Amino acid sequence: MLSNQLPPTPQPPPDQTTQVVREILQLARWAPSGDNTQPWHFSIVSPMHAVIHAYDTREHCVYDIDGQPSQISLGCLVETAVVAATAHGLRTNVVLRQDAPDTHPVVDLHFEHDANLRRDPLVDAIERRSVQRRPYETTPLKATDKAELEACVGPGHRVHWLEGRASRRSAALLMFQSARLRMVTPEAYRVHSEVIEWNARYSADKVPDQSLGVSAAMLSLMRFAMQSWGRVQFFNRFLAGTWLPRLQMDLLPALACAGHFVLLADEPADTLEGQIRAGRAVQRFWLTATHLGLMLQPELTPLIFARYATKNRPFSIRHKALEEARGVAVKLARVFGPQALEQGVFMGRIGYAPAPSARSLRRDLAQLLAG
Ligand SMILES: Cc1cc2nc3c(=O)[nH]c(=O)nc-3n(C[C@H](O)[C@H](O)[C@H](O)COP(=O)(O)O)c2cc1C
Repeated sequence: MLSNQLPPTPQPPPDQTTQVVREILQLARWAPSGDNTQPWHFSIVSPMHAVIHAYDTREHCVYDIDGQPSQISLGCLVETAVVAATAHGLRTNVVLRQDAPDTHPVVDLHFEHDANLRRDPLVDAIERRSVQRRPYETTPLKATDKAELEACVGPGHRVHWLEGRASRRSAALLMFQSARLRMVTPEAYRVHSEVIEWNARYSADKVPDQSLGVSAAMLSLMRFAMQSWGRVQFFNRFLAGTWLPRLQMDLLPALACAGHFVLLADEPADTLEGQIRAGRAVQRFWLTATHLGLMLQPELTPLIFARYATKNRPFSIRHKALEEARGVAVKLARVFGPQALEQGVFMGRIGYAPAPSARSLRRDLAQLLAG
């Protein structure tokens, strides 16, 4: 008997049909994340539909206040995927699932062909973009570069600059003060001891020590001291332990740059959507800087400590920590203006410098797809 059912259409193997979406995710995974945590995995639903399953680290990372730095990272990832898709003539429709909890955001990326879409020139900057923690030239930013950086963040965000020698000095003192709090807080020590990969130029899921921007002698000292909190406390107390690394990691780099910036959100950005939008602006800014031959280092800790202070929320077993965070908040407002406290979503330093010789790499796509 003849069947009126059509024979099934032969399907090409899955890796052929999903080749393009894989290539997009392959590039997107180069998005930056705090301490290279890459707090996400991916799934591919169809050749034109990928899903980002993100999570935050607020439970165990003192820097991930309300999960916001992780949400900024998620925004960076989304923007990187959107830029990467343009290399295939694809426009991306980004949808944040409303039923997912804020601690585990889920973002659908629906791709569609658009004959009028041009390849974004930032595609070429995706893999080259990397944090440079060593000193930069102090040459001021060219006016054309500044204009491009200000325009690239798009509506909803603006860039506030801090330039000139005196301003850089004020910013450097703020970084120095904030870094002290970082070094005397046991909760921060726990994070640092987990995220640094020692004796490494590259790291797939951590921060290689050689990318920290300090001398080999200082790295040996840090490695020795950081083996236990007791040792760190001993160094801090008797061997000027907070001074030496802070000089190399915070004060000197903050002086040696073209300037500092804070990215301001026009609307309060205290929601998941607001942070993802901010992260998208951050990544456009960072990719544009790379495209222009500029280097950048985020300087998020003063903003994070200031946020704890503004919310009056204790974050450490050291009872003086909150009071010291208030000091950071006061200084931040004095140096960058009160709007940095109210509207600041990201901060950093920027300038002309060679690319770093050590950097974080990423987990393999296969690993990110496996979850
Ligand atoms: C939200 C966020 C916050 C960050 N904060 C800092 C920071 O305070 N200091 C710093 O040196 N790097 C910071 N980084 C940079 C990351 O450590 C870096 O992007 C990550 O290790 C991956 O390295 P890569 O950018 O070189 O690929 C931050 C990145 C993001 C996305």
